[in-house]
Amino acid sequence: MDTEEKKEISVEDEAVDKNIFKDCNKIAFYRRQKQQLSKRSTYRALLDSVTTGEDSTNFQIINEATKIPLRAEVYGLEGDIFRLKINEEVPLKPRYEVPDVLTSKPSSLRLISCSGVTGSLVLANEKGNLKFHITADPFKIDLISEDDIVISVNSLGQLYFEQIQASPKKRATKENEDSSSISASKQENQDDMGLWEEKFRKFEDIKANGPTSIGLDFSLHGFRHLYGIPQHADSHQLKNTSDGDAYRLYNLDVYGYKLHDKMGIYGSVPYLLAHKVGRTVGIFWLNASETLVEISTEPPGESTQMGSVASKQKVKSRADVRWMSESGIIDVFLLTGPTPSDVFKQYSLLTGTQAMPPLFSLGYHQSRWNYEDEQDVKAVDAGFDEHDIPYDVMWLDIEHTRGKRYFTWDKKRFPTPKRMQALLRSKHRKLVVISDPHIKVDPNYSLYAEAKKRGFFVRSHEGGDFEGVCWPGLSSYLDFTNPKVREWYSSLFAFPAYKGSTDILFIWNDMNEPSVFRGPELTMQKNAVHHGNWEHRELHNIYGFYQQMATAEGLIKRSEGKERPFVLTRSFFAGSQKYGAVWTGDNRSDWSYLKISIPMLLTLSITGISFCGADVGGFIGNPEAELLVRWYQAGAYQPFFRGHATMKTKRREPWLFGEKHTRLIREAIRARYALLPYWYSLFYHAHVTAEPIMRPLWVEFPYELEAFSMEDEYMLGSALLVHPVTEAKATEIDVFLPGSEEVWYDFKTFARWEGARTVKIPVALDTIPVFQRGGSVVPVKTAIGKSTGWMTEYPYGLRVAPSAKGSAAGGLYLDDGHSFRHRHQQEFLHRSFSFCSGVLSNSCADARGHYRSKCVVEQIVVLGLSKQPSSVTTHSSDGEDQPVAFTYSARTSTLSLERLSLNIAANWEVHVR
Ligand code: NOJ
Repeated sequence: MDTEEKKEISVEDEAVDKNIFKDCNKIAFYRRQKQQLSKRSTYRALLDSVTTGEDSTNFQIINEATKIPLRAEVYGLEGDIFRLKINEEVPLKPRYEVPDVLTSKPSSLRLISCSGVTGSLVLANEKGNLKFHITADPFKIDLISEDDIVISVNSLGQLYFEQIQASPKKRATKENEDSSSISASKQENQDDMGLWEEKFRKFEDIKANGPTSIGLDFSLHGFRHLYGIPQHADSHQLKNTSDGDAYRLYNLDVYGYKLHDKMGIYGSVPYLLAHKVGRTVGIFWLNASETLVEISTEPPGESTQMGSVASKQKVKSRADVRWMSESGIIDVFLLTGPTPSDVFKQYSLLTGTQAMPPLFSLGYHQSRWNYEDEQDVKAVDAGFDEHDIPYDVMWLDIEHTRGKRYFTWDKKRFPTPKRMQALLRSKHRKLVVISDPHIKVDPNYSLYAEAKKRGFFVRSHEGGDFEGVCWPGLSSYLDFTNPKVREWYSSLFAFPAYKGSTDILFIWNDMNEPSVFRGPELTMQKNAVHHGNWEHRELHNIYGFYQQMATAEGLIKRSEGKERPFVLTRSFFAGSQKYGAVWTGDNRSDWSYLKISIPMLLTLSITGISFCGADVGGFIGNPEAELLVRWYQAGAYQPFFRGHATMKTKRREPWLFGEKHTRLIREAIRARYALLPYWYSLFYHAHVTAEPIMRPLWVEFPYELEAFSMEDEYMLGSALLVHPVTEAKATEIDVFLPGSEEVWYDFKTFARWEGARTVKIPVALDTIPVFQRGGSVVPVKTAIGKSTGWMTEYPYGLRVAPSAKGSAAGGLYLDDGHSFRHRHQQEFLHRSFSFCSGVLSNSCADARGHYRSKCVVEQIVVLGLSKQPSSVTTHSSDGEDQPVAFTYSARTSTLSLERLSLNIAANWEVHVR
C-alpha cells in the first residue's frame, strides 16, 4: 500500500488483505522443513569428540544421511540457565549470530561431567540439582531437575540444519560444467522449495547464500500452558497450531491487524514460557531472522474445574514446541525457573530489565495524527486545563515536519516550536515527536545528503542505496545495525543539531519493522544488504530494536548522560525493554480490539517488555462514547497510556462527547494519576528485579489451575486485580478472585470478599472493577494536579488492606523522576510499610538511598476493620506520641485518618487500638 492508498482507507474499511502477507505454506523454508520431517533424517552425537572449551563443553553431531558434522556447544550460565549453540563445524561463510541483545557476555559456570550410561554424557551444574543428559544416538538432550525430565531437546528428531553451499552457478563453473547441466527436475525442485530464489506475488527473493534454514524441537514434560512469543493479536495462552498455521515471528506493518491470528505483526520476542503447578520454564531462541513456532499440547482439551488440581497433575501432559528460522545459527537458552519470578530474573540476566522511565511518561499522553499546528496544540492543551483533566504529554505525528523530513519542522504550521514547548513546560508537560527510520531521498535535505555521503543507508542487493517508498515518497533506510550509524543518529538529537528541540522533547520511532509500502509484505527485500555484508534476512526482526537503541542513546547523550530518555517504538525484539516503551500499533475502534489489548499486553509484559500499551480509543475508526469511556478506564490501568487516532477520524479529545462522558473520562485519568506512586514503584521493581508490571493471574497464583488461561483480568503488581469492562452495555461482570486464603476489597466501595470464587459485580458506566488484595498497602496521591510534574509535592495517602490474618505490607519508591541521580548518586527513597497487630509502620527499605522529600502522608485508610478502634495515635522516630482524630464507618468496616502530616521519608508508626 502506498502513501495515498493508505491515507485513503476509509475509517470503516474492510478487513486486512491477508493476501499481501504470506501464510506458512508460502514460506519456502517452512515447506522444506516440513518435507524433511516426513523423511526423518537423524543426527548422532559423537561423544568421543567431546572437548572442554574455556566455558563450554563441545562435541560434534553428525547427520546420518549426509555425514555432515555440526558443532554443538553447551554452556551452564549464571542463574540456572543452559545455553545450547549448534553451528556448522566448518561453514563456507560465517553464519549470522545475533549481536547486541545479550546484556553482557553471560557469565558461565562450570558444568561437571558425570558418568552416564554408555552412549551418553551428563553435565551437571555445581549444585548438582540440574543436569543436561546428552544421548548420542539418536541425538537428544534431556534437561533434568532433581529426578524429573523437564525439557527434552530433539526428542522428536526435528533438528534441521541447512548448510551454506556454493551457489549452483559457482559450483557449475568450478566443476567446469555447463550451467544447463542442472537437470530439469532439480530446477523444478529449486522453484518449489525456494532454495536460491523464492517468489511471492510480484517479488523475487534471490538468496546470496541459498538455503540456510534451521530448526529444533523441544518437549516440555507435564506442561500444557504456554505463553509468550509476541507479537500476535491473539490470546495470552498459546494455542495448538495445525499444519500451515504456525505462530510467525516476522516484523510487519499490518494496518488494522486481524484478531485471533498467528500472523506476525510489528515486533518479535522469540521467547516462550511454559507453566505448570510447581514449575515455570522458558525457552529463548536467539535468532533475528524470520521464525515460525509450532505448538502441540497433549492431552488436548481441559477442564478448569476448581478442586481438580491434584487429579490434573496425575495426567502426564506434554507440550511440543518446534522452532524454525530462515537463517542464522541455533542459539537457545533454557531457563529452568522453577518459579515465574525466577524465570523473569533469568531472562533479564540475558536481555536486561525494563529501563526506569521518567515519571512523566507514566502520566496520560494525548496524540492524534495530527495535531495541525501550534494553535491546535495550544487549544488542546488548554482544553485539558479547562476540563480539569490531567495530562503529561502532547504528541506530534509525521505532519509536523517539512515534507516528512524528520528532525525538521513545517515552518507554516510550527513556526515557533520552542515557544510551543515553553507553554507545555510551564505546566510541567512534555512533547513527543515522531522520527521514522526512512529518510526522504532529497539531496537538499542535509540529513539525507550526509547519510548518503557516509554510506549510512541499507544497500540493495544490486548495489547502491536501497530505495523504497514510505511517507515521504522515495526513501532510503538508515542502517542502524552499523554502530557508526547509530552513533551518528544519536548525535542528531543534540540540542544544537536538532533545531527547535528542547529538553522537554522526546521521541517516537514508528514504521521501523521497517515498513516499505511497495515492498514484499510491505517491508524490505530480504536480500538488501547491511553493514558487514549481512543480508536483511539475517536480522530483519532486530532492525527496529536498533533504531530505538540509537534514539535512547541520543536522548541520553544530549543531556550529557544526566537525563532518562523516553522513546516509544512500534517494532521491537528481545531486549527492547532496555530502551523504552512499545505499543501495539494500528488497532481499531472496536470492542474486540479493546478486549484483545489485555492479552497482547500481558504477553509483552511476561517477555520483559513491561512498558507497553495500546492506542486508547482505537487508532482506526470513530469510537462511540461508551467504547471511548471504557477504553480510557482500561488504559488507565495499563502501563503506557496514550490516546491516539488516525487521520480523518473525528476529533475525540476527552471533552467532545458531552458532559457525562467528559466526567467519566476525567475520573478514569484522575484514577491513573492518584495511583502514580504505586505505578512508579512497580516500574522500579520491574527495573531492578524484572518483575512484570501487568501480570497474568498465573504469575501471582501459580498454583491456581483455573487462573492459567485467564486473560480478561490481571494483576497490576501484586496488590491490585483489574478486570476492565470490555463489553458494550455491560450491567454486570464476573470477576474471578483467586486464592482460597486471600481476601479482596473493592478499591472504590471497600466491599470485602473471600478469595477462590467468582463474584458477580454490577457495573455502571462509571465502574472500573479494581480490587485490592488483602495483605497489601498501596501508596496513592491524595490530590491531582495538571501533570505528574505539577504533583511532585502533593501529599500521599496509604490504602491498607489487611490479609485474612490482619496484616499487610507494601512499599514506595521515590526519586527526582527524571535524572540518573538515583543510580549514580543513590538519590532515591525506598520506604517499606507494614501493618501488623494494629500497628502501621513506615521504615526504610533500602539504606543506600537518600533523597530529600518534604512530602507527607496525609491520609491513611485501613480496610476490613470489623470493630471501631478506641484510639489511634502516631509515634514519630523522636518518640513523640500524638492522638489522631479518626472516622470509622461500620457500613464499610473502614477506618480513615485525614489531615495527617507524617513525613514520607521518616520512620513512624500509627497505632490502632
Ligand atoms: C503508523 C503508526 O502506527 C500510527 O500510530 C501513526 O499515526 C502513523 N504511522 C503515522 O505516523
